[in-house]
Amino acid sequence: MTPTKRFALIAGARPNFMKIAPIIRALERYPDLEVCLIHTGQHYDKNLSDVFFQELGIRRPDVALGVGSGSHAKQTADVMVAVENLIVEANEKGQPFTAVIVVGDVNSTMAAAIAASKLHVPVVHVEAGLRSRDRTMPEEINRLVTDSISDLLLCSEPAGVENLIAEGHSAENVHLVGNVMIDTLMNEVTRAKEQKTLEQFGLLAGQYGVVTLHRPGNVDEPETLKGILQVLAKISEKLPLVFPVHPRTRSRIDQFALRGILDAAPGCRVVDPLGYLDCLCLTSQAKVVVTDSGGLQEESTALGVPCLTLRPNTERPITCSEGTGTLIGNSADLLDLKLREVLSDRYKIGKCPELWDGKAAVRIAELLSAKFR
Ligand code: UD1
Repeated sequence: MTPTKRFALIAGARPNFMKIAPIIRALERYPDLEVCLIHTGQHYDKNLSDVFFQELGIRRPDVALGVGSGSHAKQTADVMVAVENLIVEANEKGQPFTAVIVVGDVNSTMAAAIAASKLHVPVVHVEAGLRSRDRTMPEEINRLVTDSISDLLLCSEPAGVENLIAEGHSAENVHLVGNVMIDTLMNEVTRAKEQKTLEQFGLLAGQYGVVTLHRPGNVDEPETLKGILQVLAKISEKLPLVFPVHPRTRSRIDQFALRGILDAAPGCRVVDPLGYLDCLCLTSQAKVVVTDSGGLQEESTALGVPCLTLRPNTERPITCSEGTGTLIGNSADLLDLKLREVLSDRYKIGKCPELWDGKAAVRIAELLSAKFR
């Protein structure tokens, strides 16, 4: 059957890739649907991009926009211009897009949504409605703008639905579908545990912590970053830590001359960003995850691993109300207290939220197939 519906699926940065993998698989089961995969190039390093395509079996993008890094305005503008051109070309060729699907909250998500919306192409937002209510976070601006112009809003947790309804969206356009990031986790966790990552880092299951840190709010101010690194160094005296360092964080550590704090902490193993399977191998067998990442908050909850979230707020409240997360802000005392609970097995036990069941992408595909007849 010749496809009658053409969806442009946009991916740009690391956390997008594990979200698009199950969506592509689910959509491609429908013979009347075609997916045009577009990589904006917001992330371009091998270990922030290519490795995820290889490990998750994502096919080569149909279009690579190659926008690269830049200020927020430049990166957003470059993606907007490139996506606009693509939509116009598709229209001129007589192969218009039925809708543009964007995932998550990175600059590429918002930019593609704006370009599509202004050309009257319906926008589908996967992971809609999440709100930290902290407008100093670039992602919060991306979420607000993207949702305000999206036509179909697909939520990963009930708070997303509540926020969108409170903002005036019509209930018929808002759907709780579950969490596509957890689809990928469930699909890959057995294979991930078979990796040799623990041996490679000299770790024993259940006897180490995983740390990630990359939010501008945590890493862009010298005093804040210094305080966090000092706390990590202290923790690592009790529990070995693996710290895969994001390029933004690495460059700030160098710029603020803070490397000495980590060098003086032999229990803290600083490594390059990890691929998906190595990362999941480590997190799934960790005693604790200490992070400011949205994705890791959710993954820890799905895995039942304690997650001490180095943020004052979260747009993913279910990770704290039902899951294994606790908001720590950047309080050294609270981190120490919660860590002691974890180490003495007194930390709370979480549960996996409803619809984080590995089938979110299948529900999304069903909805899209029915909606765009
Ligand atoms: C972006 C997302 C953030 C997401 C994170 C995951 C936005 C606003 N932020 O943040 O929501 O949690 O990705 O990683 O979209 N760089 C490299 N190699 C790359 C890409 C970037 O070295 O492949 C460096 C560049 O110096 C760049 C900096 O990292 O300026 C920041 O990259 P950028 O994509 O702007 O934001 P992230 O901090 O990665």
